[in-house]
Amino acid sequence: MKITNASLFAGSVLALSLLAGCKAGGENPGLEYAPQMYHAVGYEPLSQIKDEAQGSWLSTREDGKGEFFNSNVNNPHGMNMREPVANTVPRNKQGYLPHRLQQFELDKAALIPSPFAASEQVLKDGEKLYTQYCNTCHGKGGEGDGLAGQVVGGVANLKGGAYVNLPEGHIFHVITKGKGRMGAHGSQIPAESRWKIVHYVKQVIQGQAVAADSIPAADSTAVAPVNPAK
Ligand code: HEC
Repeated sequence: MKITNASLFAGSVLALSLLAGCKAGGENPGLEYAPQMYHAVGYEPLSQIKDEAQGSWLSTREDGKGEFFNSNVNNPHGMNMREPVANTVPRNKQGYLPHRLQQFELDKAALIPSPFAASEQVLKDGEKLYTQYCNTCHGKGGEGDGLAGQVVGGVANLKGGAYVNLPEGHIFHVITKGKGRMGAHGSQIPAESRWKIVHYVKQVIQGQAVAADSIPAADSTAVAPVNPAK
């Protein structure tokens, strides 16, 4: 029994000291058990391991350098990629520039009335959707005090100042495409649900009655004219 206890003790001390050896911090990445998984052999665009001796204990390279060295000494910071030319804007893989909401788009969007009348059911659905998608930043009452909003910062208070008078089409467009620090939600929330959120924001959060001329004919379920989907 005694022997078992002693070996258990010794075993745990050994295990603990082995684990302590993995500890990373500061410049020390800790012990790497499978270094070739972390250090790609291929060129990495931002690679900055400039020490030619790093990983030499593991190296099988023909040039005699350490396994982990894969910087380009001719480029700034030893990166393999070149820094983009000043004032250029990177395109994505499809060749598109990042979307920037233009003022004319918002001006046009502002003219689009909601295709849905604000029924009790619409507001109820809107509340659910708002809670799901907007609460985190804009807060339950819309005052920009959601928990994530405190981290993001600069969240619009939907009850404050000029925001109260935002046309519904404008809000719909902002949900769809995002604006400034707010990301686009068009790919996550179907168009109909976005309009429901708009009604919830206008009628419940901002406490506004539906403008008489903005209520479309009761039978209208037509999609708004300026490509609101997508
Ligand atoms: C990740 C945080 C975040 C989420 C989620 C979010 N917003 Fe925003 N929202 C912001 C921020 C930040 C701004 C301020 C944007 C700016 O002007 O830079 C903003 C601005 C707005 C504005 C004002 C636009 C204007 O014209 O200035 C409206 C309206 C709005 N949000 C509605 C919504 C609605 C509705 C939802 C839910 C579908 C939502 N937001 C979800 C962060 C968020």
